[in-house]
Amino acid sequence: MATINFGGVLEDVVTREEFPMEKAREVLKNETIAIIGYGVQGPGQALNLKDNGFNVIVGQRKNSKTWDKAVADGWVPGQTLFEIEEAAQKGTILQFLLSDAGQIALWPTLKQYLTPGKALYFSHGFGITYKEQTGIIPPADVDVILVAPKGSGTSLRRLFLAGQGLNSSFAVFQDATGRARERVIALGIGVGSGYLFETDFKKEVYSDLTGERGTLMGAIQGIFAAQYETLRKNGHSPSEAFNETVEELTQSLMPLVAENGMDWMYANCSTTAQRGALDWWKKFKEATQPVFEELYASVAAGKEAERSIASNSQADYREKLNEELKELRESEMWQAGSAVRKLRPNN
Ligand SMILES: NC(=O)c1ccc[n+]([C@@H]2O[C@H](COP(=O)([O-])OP(=O)(O)OC[C@H]3O[C@@H](n4cnc5c(N)ncnc54)[C@H](OP(=O)(O)O)[C@@H]3O)[C@@H](O)[C@H]2O)c1
Repeated sequence: MATINFGGVLEDVVTREEFPMEKAREVLKNETIAIIGYGVQGPGQALNLKDNGFNVIVGQRKNSKTWDKAVADGWVPGQTLFEIEEAAQKGTILQFLLSDAGQIALWPTLKQYLTPGKALYFSHGFGITYKEQTGIIPPADVDVILVAPKGSGTSLRRLFLAGQGLNSSFAVFQDATGRARERVIALGIGVGSGYLFETDFKKEVYSDLTGERGTLMGAIQGIFAAQYETLRKNGHSPSEAFNETVEELTQSLMPLVAENGMDWMYANCSTTAQRGALDWWKKFKEATQPVFEELYASVAAGKEAERSIASNSQADYREKLNEELKELRESEMWQAGSAVRKLRPNN
């Protein structure tokens, strides 16, 4: 572990320097890693592990587009690609990478293959934390571990191919073998993480649900919509409103924030922009703080999990989702966005 100062707070993290790939390979040399589910995280983690020299197989239900995708990615039926139950039987580490609703449905089947000494791996604390609602209660004689990449499986793969990595959190919920910690860190390095920071299953799911409902997705769309509407009501054109709300942020400012931080971006914009941003960010913070408190309380009370399980397990879930996405897609702001994207010079 390396001790790093995060804004005055010391944290122990794992980097590839203290835990190089050769060490990860040594720790997992006798393991068969079964990736159960080949949706978004499955391909990213499976391909990165394989390319990093680990012994990987994929478990995916047959007669689905996802099975065909796995074949197209180079997994060979009967050798490295199997039906879920066969992969679960062969694997010593089972990476449970189905959708959260899929995990609930498949759990009664999967648990039969969790023989003593195996490891059950998650990329989200959801199933274990909300066990009353998911029914996911692992046997006591297996390791239960987590590596949660902080981003999409697609980015995990792309960054790996570019020689970079997504940061991930890791956690041990149950250490039955005495090897859970080295197993989970080796897997975190193997899937192509940047650095690894420690958490527990509950903190992982609370922060994840808050983040996606908050600044990563929910809050940002809400703030975009409020500003766009205000500009439009005051007579600004869609082009002007979209550029001042979204396009400038994603194309110009956020890449600078990603590289050097918000302070640097503030320091390198016009003095008029600086003054205004410094005056107004605290008002937005005060206005939204109660909403974030409400959100966190809802997550901690299990209400967000309950709502997501109830809606995701309905048979017409996809249709209803498509209706809601259609509303977003057909809103003037995102239609304007589509027109703006087409006008980008490289298109
Ligand atoms: N999305 C991300 O980038 C991301 C980021 C960090 C962590 N995570 C976590 O990683 C895990 C996997 O997420 P994901 O987004 O990769 O999932 P996903 O794409 O929704 O998973 C789809 C996979 O689950 C299978 N599946 C769904 N229901 C099933 C069922 N009832 N029986 C058998 N197979 C079923 C699908 O098979 P079919 O195609 O045959 O239906 C497919 O292989 C989750 O715990 C998630 O929270 C995800």
